[in-house]
Amino acid sequence: MIENEQLTPQLTADGSFTFFSSEFGELFHSHFGAKQEAERKFVEPLQLRKKSKISPLFLLDICYGLGYNTAAALTAIWEVNPNCKIEWIGLEFDQRIPQVTLEYNLLNAYPDYIQEILKELAQNHYLKTELFNANLMIGDARNTIQTVYNSGFKADAIFLDPFSPAHCPQLWTVEFLTLVGQCLKPQGDLATYSCSATARSALIQAGLQIASTSPVGRRTPGTIASFDPRGLPPLSPKEQEHLKTRAAVPYRDPSLSDTAEKIILRRQAEQDTCTLEPTSHWKKRWRSESIL
Ligand SMILES: C[S@@+](CC[C@H](N)C(=O)[O-])C[C@H]1O[C@@H](n2cnc3c(N)ncnc32)[C@H](O)[C@@H]1O
Repeated sequence: MIENEQLTPQLTADGSFTFFSSEFGELFHSHFGAKQEAERKFVEPLQLRKKSKISPLFLLDICYGLGYNTAAALTAIWEVNPNCKIEWIGLEFDQRIPQVTLEYNLLNAYPDYIQEILKELAQNHYLKTELFNANLMIGDARNTIQTVYNSGFKADAIFLDPFSPAHCPQLWTVEFLTLVGQCLKPQGDLATYSCSATARSALIQAGLQIASTSPVGRRTPGTIASFDPRGLPPLSPKEQEHLKTRAAVPYRDPSLSDTAEKIILRRQAEQDTCTLEPTSHWKKRWRSESIL
């Protein structure tokens, strides 16, 4: 965490705001829209409106950040079933992010009662009401996920929203995602905005089945993952072939404590010696295709 990092709201195309991280060198959301991304990459693919009939519903928000994914999820669930009880855990490294979000009042597009909940989470990291039992765990998710696992918490839905694999490889490793998978119910779903081959192959090595979610704003889809393949549409031939190229070598972090640099170098070494097809060949083969 950069101590004095300036968090200045950046307007996205749907009128909602996000931040830029100088530490990770990227925006917290795509410039197409923070609010839209929460809805289309997480709430819809996870089918949270349908899942709202499960009560209590267990939610795990990995990389809570400004809280958009949780704000969108709670709004959607309680619109459909106002009596749904929710057990919620959020993981976030930098407690200033939700606090600065509050100072700038960035979540004002959500109902007042949702804003009140996120205010409590930003200030106290904990909230217990009749319908909502929540714990925002501050720290490296590679550690806090172990606490989640040891507590026996099993999620119906997981939001996996770290910075991109190239900038935050620590949270896309086979070892980390295996632990995440161990916090997912057999019928539960995990959603992420990424469709990168390295992220997808790590999810597969963690034992999950994967499918694409609808693209938002740009052409690339996200990924939905579950141990239960029921009805998940198959990946396209292009996507399947992508997973057989060098881009699909996953990040590894056996001790769950290595630096990003070390994790990146370990993957490069594996890519240099593997017999997988170079990804440039795959790209050339599919260059004329416009969609995945
Ligand atoms: C892409 S942003 C998440 C945006 C967020 N889901 C939202 O709806 O606003 C990634 C977040 O991951 C957090 N992060 C980075 N490294 C982390 C780590 N090792 N453990 C937990 N959180 C981390 C960052 O502080 C940042 O808030």
